[in-house]
Amino acid sequence: MFNIENFDIKLNTEYIGRTFIYADEVLSTNTLLMDKKSEYNIHGTILFAEKQTKGRGRKDRVWYSAPESNLTFSILLSKDKEILKNINFLNFASSLSVAVSLENLYQLNTSVKWPNDVLINGKKTSGILIESSWQGSKIERVVIGIGVNVNQNSFQGVFNYPPTSIRNELGRTVERERLLAELLNNFETEIEKIKTNQSELLSDWKSRCKMIGERISITEDDKEKFGIFEDIDSDGFLLLKTKEGIERIHFGDVNSKRI
Ligand code: BTN
Repeated sequence: MFNIENFDIKLNTEYIGRTFIYADEVLSTNTLLMDKKSEYNIHGTILFAEKQTKGRGRKDRVWYSAPESNLTFSILLSKDKEILKNINFLNFASSLSVAVSLENLYQLNTSVKWPNDVLINGKKTSGILIESSWQGSKIERVVIGIGVNVNQNSFQGVFNYPPTSIRNELGRTVERERLLAELLNNFETEIEKIKTNQSELLSDWKSRCKMIGERISITEDDKEKFGIFEDIDSDGFLLLKTKEGIERIHFGDVNSKRI
């Protein structure tokens, strides 16, 4: 079982995780925090669940996570419009905070995959689902759902990308409480850079993105595009170099097409 005291001692944030909700079982932590009628409205609230019965991934995929083994949680951001409206940079800040935490605590060889996956030794260990709700043209709340495969040791099913866990890559189980605190500490630092230092945030993310410069394919709604992953632009979009020129990609699944 997750020990909240052990987590709390290591939490070093100003507002992220200062309201912490622990649940044994929910449908999906994202679904609950996205519900405006729910009792959760405080900026920085974390909803952590030991088990999700309808865990969701990007593009309506299912996110399955073995109960009590991993981290499945969501972060609610409801203030600070400058941060809220920068969804692309929230993708970078979130995945970077996972990658940096794995490097700091376990010296693991991490990389990131556009827009927000975190890989260890080229296999996916963390997925992130960012959702937002709008009132007219104003963004009201953003929910960042993070799943990290921590101590799960086997994966069944069909995956878009080969999965792994920290335990599988490290060869030992790790303490989830310490990892969650480290991750939230780094998350708060990284999202503040959306206001103060976007270029550092982007260059830290890009330095971990091994696919830049490679031949890739991008799939979106059954359409596949091929080209060279040229760069990420200053707004956070992927620049794909094709025969026709440079295309700015907003969504999609990126796969390496090394020959
Ligand atoms: C993906 O890689 O497709 C994104 C996976 C996101 C999973 C997390 S687990 C916590 C939160 N609640 C959900 O239902 N999904 C996210």
